[in-house]
Amino acid sequence: MAFRKDFLWGGATAANQFEGGWDEDGKGPNVPDHIRGGTVSTPRTWDYEIDPDVYYPSHQAVDFYHRYKEDIALYGEMGFKCFRLSINWARIFPTGMEEEPNQKGLDFYHNVFAECKKYDIEPLVTMSHYELPWGLSVKYNGWAGRDVIDYFMHYAETIFKEYKDEVKLWLTFNEINCGCSPSGRVLSLGMQGEDGKTWFKDSETDEEASDRFTALHHQFVASAKAVKLAHEKYPDFKMGLMIVANEPYPNTCNPDDVKAAQDTQDLQNWLCGDVQVRGHYPFFAKRYFKEHNITVRMEEGDEEILKEGCVDFYSFSYYSSAVEAKKDTEEAKTAGNIFGSIKNPYLKASDWGWQIDPMGLRIYLNQVYARYEIPVMIVENGLGAVDEIAEDGKIHDVYRIDYLREHIKAMKEAVEDGVDLMGYTMWGCTDLVSASTGEMKKRYGFVYVDRDNDGNGDFHRERKDSFFWYKKVIETNGEDLD
Ligand code: BG6
Repeated sequence: MAFRKDFLWGGATAANQFEGGWDEDGKGPNVPDHIRGGTVSTPRTWDYEIDPDVYYPSHQAVDFYHRYKEDIALYGEMGFKCFRLSINWARIFPTGMEEEPNQKGLDFYHNVFAECKKYDIEPLVTMSHYELPWGLSVKYNGWAGRDVIDYFMHYAETIFKEYKDEVKLWLTFNEINCGCSPSGRVLSLGMQGEDGKTWFKDSETDEEASDRFTALHHQFVASAKAVKLAHEKYPDFKMGLMIVANEPYPNTCNPDDVKAAQDTQDLQNWLCGDVQVRGHYPFFAKRYFKEHNITVRMEEGDEEILKEGCVDFYSFSYYSSAVEAKKDTEEAKTAGNIFGSIKNPYLKASDWGWQIDPMGLRIYLNQVYARYEIPVMIVENGLGAVDEIAEDGKIHDVYRIDYLREHIKAMKEAVEDGVDLMGYTMWGCTDLVSASTGEMKKRYGFVYVDRDNDGNGDFHRERKDSFFWYKKVIETNGEDLD
């Protein structure tokens, strides 16, 4: 058998895209609660004041808050070994700044973990998945404010203590490397956007870039402190980092293109990986910051903290690879997760333009493991597609099965190459709100949810064909992929 006996097969979600119940039982608003829905061609926009007449996708999302028992039972039926979810920080501390946690928020996750236990499903918890409480975003411009580290630590201490017997696997920040690009300012770093405008920025001034990298540095410090705390107090916890994988190929063998691909790889993957796995900024960071007039506001003692808080495993999301070329290239562009890229003529793309590349997953797994030699886990992968209900009332999502099959085959190859792969949680195991577009139409799930882009639908769940396929994959530990 290629995969470990204890391989963590499962699915992944995030509170803001899944739970709904955005203002129930004492929960405060968070940053995504202020972002409207969009489409592939209309960017999502950001409102300082929530408009009661506007539909915000995260407010009801797909109602996991009220349907968690049914959802987790479906995961049990598929044989999940692991369920990745995030704790909604603003459900525990409504503004992020309270001394005492919100008991009803704490209870909700106890209930969720109890359901997981019923089916022998191990929870994998992301502490912060694009869910900064709105109060902290306003008061400190999100992670640009150093005080947010202390609030995060208060949250970390609270949830570690509260769930220490129920949760052993933790990720500190979702896709922390989004902070390496201007597009990560609002969602990933919780910084304030421009009222009524898109949250997806693609350029900034030197000063703004300095604030952004300072905010990212604060996340590094917060992550390291949380890891250190876990290692000291809860030795049975396993603490992971989480990165959006970007495997950049050079557009040609022109050395300038190859260098451009290396620069992208350095900035978008290894900068965050090195800080969190090796405990220090990589050698190339200095020159990058200097050449871009970026000043990262670090404090004395920060270097020590980073050294003391190295993670136990490396996790990542993988949807597509990328192509890089020297500056000012005329090549056609394509969309991708967070980072766009030049079009790769050898690959097909999803309806949202994300290029499908299972081999890229094998390459990335090998690169990561070669560099860090710690266990690796794929905590997001999947196909966002439009699902139609067929005449027989079912959803025959063969395209999704094909996508997943090819990626699992690539994982198998990587394991045979020698990569220590812990598990695989497919993204959006139950249909949920898309992070980039806010749509419901972009579906990933094994389980269909009756909900559309405008908020219509009764939320009822249906098993798709991929549901039964994945059940068999898990039963055979990845041996039967037909
Ligand atoms: C990752 C995020 O970027 O990709 C998820 O961690 C997100 O939150 C997923 O949903 C897929 O992206 P999208 O835009 O298709 O939802």
